[in-house]
Amino acid sequence: MTDLAVDVGRCLLANPVMPASGTFSEALADAIDLDRLGALVAKTVMPEKRAGNALPRVAETPMGMLNSIGIPCKGPEAFVQHTIPAFKRYRPPFVASISAGTVRGFADLAAQVVAGGADVVEANISCPNLEADGHAFAVSPKATARVVQALRAATDAPLWAKLSPNAPNIAEVAMAAEAAGADAVVVANTILGMAIDVERRRTRLGAGMGGLSGPAIKPIVLRMTYQCVRAVRIPVIGCGGIATAADALEFLIAGARAVQVGTATFRHPTTMIRILDDLDAWCRERGIARITDVIGTLEPFETPQLEAAEDLAAE
Ligand SMILES: Cc1cc2nc3c(=O)[nH]c(=O)nc-3n(C[C@H](O)[C@H](O)[C@H](O)COP(=O)(O)O)c2cc1C
Repeated sequence: MTDLAVDVGRCLLANPVMPASGTFSEALADAIDLDRLGALVAKTVMPEKRAGNALPRVAETPMGMLNSIGIPCKGPEAFVQHTIPAFKRYRPPFVASISAGTVRGFADLAAQVVAGGADVVEANISCPNLEADGHAFAVSPKATARVVQALRAATDAPLWAKLSPNAPNIAEVAMAAEAAGADAVVVANTILGMAIDVERRRTRLGAGMGGLSGPAIKPIVLRMTYQCVRAVRIPVIGCGGIATAADALEFLIAGARAVQVGTATFRHPTTMIRILDDLDAWCRERGIARITDVIGTLEPFETPQLEAAEDLAAE
């Protein structure tokens, strides 16, 4: 057996594979052994009860799915009373994904979920910042720094900032999160997209636009993960289009310390377990004892020397 343990900030995980927020619930225990996962990440909770966005909320596209769920939520009390105890029955650390429209809302909610038993706080900062014209916190290094600072002051629990691929420069946002005290960054949430039903001349999502996830976004998010790995010293968790061990390995080799799996679980509920088994087999076949020996091992291409380049040009 390969040693799959990784440490993500101040959190030691038995392995680097965990669900992405919003694509996972305790009901998945019917299909897989949740105790085998590196961590358990719940759907984002917000400070107030919410109904969610207009229907339809999901649309399939050739290489991924669009969603505009809008974070329907029963509020923090229900989360602390029901969701946290349901997940705490399992061994892996429980990651509470939180979001709010204001800095104060984020900080209060973090304190509440940690008091309720959450092991890690994942701040979903891709939501609109009501104090800045509704622009997402995560598109601005300044707004990210403000919210992460407040979260850091509100809790000593490990704090992960989940970044948005819609930021103009995600590496700068990762640096702001690190400087403000985040223990890790998650790269990333969904990419804003759109689809139109041409016969009805209507957008295929009730909200008009929505987040694209799945295989279509993997090369983009892998590139962003690599850029963030180079920009910060804290661990980076890769998330976007991961469906196989080979996908996960691409992120790990690029330097991600762990990975999250979202859309692929909808297609095959056992995806995360298959990825774990295949990661173990891949390492064993190559005599690799620890998964940490794979992380950040991307080899550079050699730049051709001038003579060789001239030979090539002559061919
Ligand atoms: C149906 C659906 C609901 C989601 N809900 C949340 C959410 O509540 N909070 C969050 O941070 N991300 C949410 N996401 C984004 C995922 O956690 C993940 O970042 C994204 O889907 C990219 O990963 P994937 O390509 O493996 O799905 C959601 C994604 C989907 C498809």
